[in-house]
Amino acid sequence: MNNILLKNQDPDIANLIDKEANRQNTGLEMIPSENHTSGAVLEALGSRLTDKYSEGYPGMRYYGGCDIVDQVENLARDRACKLFGADHANVQPHSGCPANIAVYFALLDPGDTIMGLKLFHGGHMTHGLKVNFSGTFFNSVQYGCRADGYIDIDEMRKLAHEHKPKLIVSGGSAYARQYEWAKYQEIADEVGAFHLADMSHVAGLVAGSVHPNPVGIADVVTTTTHKTLRGPRGAMILSKGNPSTPLKKVPRTKENIPTLIDRAIIPGIQGGPHNHQTAAIAVALKEAMQPEFKDYAKQVVVNAKTLADELMSKGYELVTGGTDTHLLLINLGNKQVTGAQAEKALGRAGITVNKNTVPHDPRKPFDPSGIRMGTPAITTRGMKKAEMKQIADYINEAITHMDDEATLDRIHGEVTEMCGAFPLAI
Ligand SMILES: Cc1ncc(COP(=O)(O)O)c(C=O)c1O
Repeated sequence: MNNILLKNQDPDIANLIDKEANRQNTGLEMIPSENHTSGAVLEALGSRLTDKYSEGYPGMRYYGGCDIVDQVENLARDRACKLFGADHANVQPHSGCPANIAVYFALLDPGDTIMGLKLFHGGHMTHGLKVNFSGTFFNSVQYGCRADGYIDIDEMRKLAHEHKPKLIVSGGSAYARQYEWAKYQEIADEVGAFHLADMSHVAGLVAGSVHPNPVGIADVVTTTTHKTLRGPRGAMILSKGNPSTPLKKVPRTKENIPTLIDRAIIPGIQGGPHNHQTAAIAVALKEAMQPEFKDYAKQVVVNAKTLADELMSKGYELVTGGTDTHLLLINLGNKQVTGAQAEKALGRAGITVNKNTVPHDPRKPFDPSGIRMGTPAITTRGMKKAEMKQIADYINEAITHMDDEATLDRIHGEVTEMCGAFPLAI
């Protein structure tokens, strides 16, 4: 990027930004929750919209001068509804955690029972982890995965009937298979619970029609905007039905979800929306509506499957035996390597992944048995099947020679050369 003003005024920060851009450009970003946004998204983020306060919603603000940011927010909301088939979109959550906090605040009282996937089986900490707000303010019951790595829907049904949760959360952060939204909704209906589908990880795949859409099935849907959806950091809450005025207090029924959500964001848990972020989300949503985005989403999955097949052919054990999304969860138990060791060796070789627990992991979360990786960012750069085969070779070589610095350096050099053919947009 051309940071002329920043370079003059604050060379320290300008230099660090350049260094990070260079790190991303010359290495393979394979953390599955990350992506590379377009130059247009970055321009919207770095705009004057960040200066504006606009607590409230379009047409109902607590501040003057909001005519233009109203139009920005309306565009973002309309595009979100169109893309995902929702009636209502709240685009103000500052990120994924606050989006989930808002849903809990909207639908629950402290002490109510919630059910989500265990973090260490691939869930997210906001889905009821004991040390998170969701496991502290609520009575958290957690479901897990079967021995084969698939989510144990039967156990979930049993737990739901036993504990009668008020809210069931579907979705997760380290699950490689498609989420069966309708099954969760069925169980939620059986026990009279609300169903929150957190599609943060797969939103871009949903937008590109290569993963089922939870909107219209689940009572309420949250998503971050910066993962497969390829937008700026941020989040949205989507639902069916239309809000009455968010200033009006309404009972907690499924029909009132849009109003309850709007009230939960403000005055419930947030103040002013981040208008620069809202504009950048709108830009990303427009990009996701283009036919090329469908090709992108399809390629993300093709790439993940190719990488999975290549690694399995080299003796790597994938949780669930493969993937049908953007994500691979690899159990390194049979390789006599820990997740932390693999993360370090791959990092040294220019391949950024993260250590991760695998379901029923005998090791501790700080030093787990697995690594998690994904293809959203490298697919954005234009990499395809041939590069996935090459990357699988690099991964295998780096893990096999994790103590051999010369080999790791050589791989890093080759990775950088490969990345040179697929530069970031800016
Ligand atoms: C499923 C899921 N929900 C919520 C979040 C939280 O998002 P954020 O980090 O933007 O708060 C994440 C982030 O990793 C996630 O994977």
